[in-house]
Amino acid sequence: MADLRVNFLGKTLNGPVIGASGTFGYGVEYADMIDCARLGGVCSKGLTLHGKPGNEGERLWETPSGLINSIGLQNPGVRHFIENELPDMQTLGTAIFANLGGGCIEDYEEGVRLLNDTAVDFIELNISCPNVKHGGIAYGVKAESAREVVGRVRAVCRKPLVVKLSPNAESIPDMAAACAEAGADALSLVNTFQAMAIDLEKRRPVFNNVFAGLSGPAIRPIALRMVWQACGAVKIPVIGLGGIATGRDALEFIMAGAHAVQVGTANFSDPTVCMKITDEIAAWMDKNGVKTLDEIRGCARP
Ligand SMILES: Cc1cc2nc3c(=O)[nH]c(=O)nc-3n(C[C@H](O)[C@H](O)[C@H](O)COP(=O)(O)O)c2cc1C
Repeated sequence: MADLRVNFLGKTLNGPVIGASGTFGYGVEYADMIDCARLGGVCSKGLTLHGKPGNEGERLWETPSGLINSIGLQNPGVRHFIENELPDMQTLGTAIFANLGGGCIEDYEEGVRLLNDTAVDFIELNISCPNVKHGGIAYGVKAESAREVVGRVRAVCRKPLVVKLSPNAESIPDMAAACAEAGADALSLVNTFQAMAIDLEKRRPVFNNVFAGLSGPAIRPIALRMVWQACGAVKIPVIGLGGIATGRDALEFIMAGAHAVQVGTANFSDPTVCMKITDEIAAWMDKNGVKTLDEIRGCARP
């Protein structure tokens, strides 16, 4: 039988499949349907220092093979998470990733300080957030602005730090290298691609903010290319995501070099999909005589 455990930043993940931020609640919502202890981990909804009500207007729009969302980081805030959601997450028997966003560096720093003294296993820093003090361009677009936020967070962070990259970065290799140099322990990518839709009847953009984030199978080949590039640019571990819906999809990311994968949008059409993906990976490994993922990680690379 294949051994699906993954060694990640000194901890053993129970499997290679992790529930992606914003699509998996706090994991507890899925506990009646799947065995969360077989997951590699659960990423919390994106947290901010102070809670956020989220965006007004349309928030979700389906496209062929994809989903555009404009949730606006609706969340109860870091303190509420620590007191109310985290204790339930601790009962799941899987690793806990606290996904942290922010509109300014000071908020990121304060959020990390609060999370330092909790049972959270990893902090996943979402740098796709707009930098409110600098014209609203996301931290994850320019390598130098990502370097600054990651460096400042690293200085106060006592948890293993995973930096989640935006696919809207000017250059994925430069961005990956800048985050690693600034002190990231690992990377995860990709977040959603900037996209939009127009409502023909209203003759207006669907979303109040005009642009929103595209996820799902439509982005998978591009996400795979970016994960390949990131794995080539840094020596730290990389978690791959973007449109993964089957075991074969996940194996492509692992053969590109990813340590583990996250699954997001696919959970909405099938809440048991993370278990199916896990079983499909195991079945493929058994069929092909592969005992551990270490044997095939990065095997597609020259
Ligand atoms: C409804 C929705 C909400 C999301 N919220 C967050 C979030 O709060 N923080 C974050 O880092 N990523 C968030 N994401 C991005 C996902 O975690 C993931 O990076 C992206 O959707 C690509 O993976 P997928 O194609 O498997 O969904 C969200 C995605 C969706 C669809």
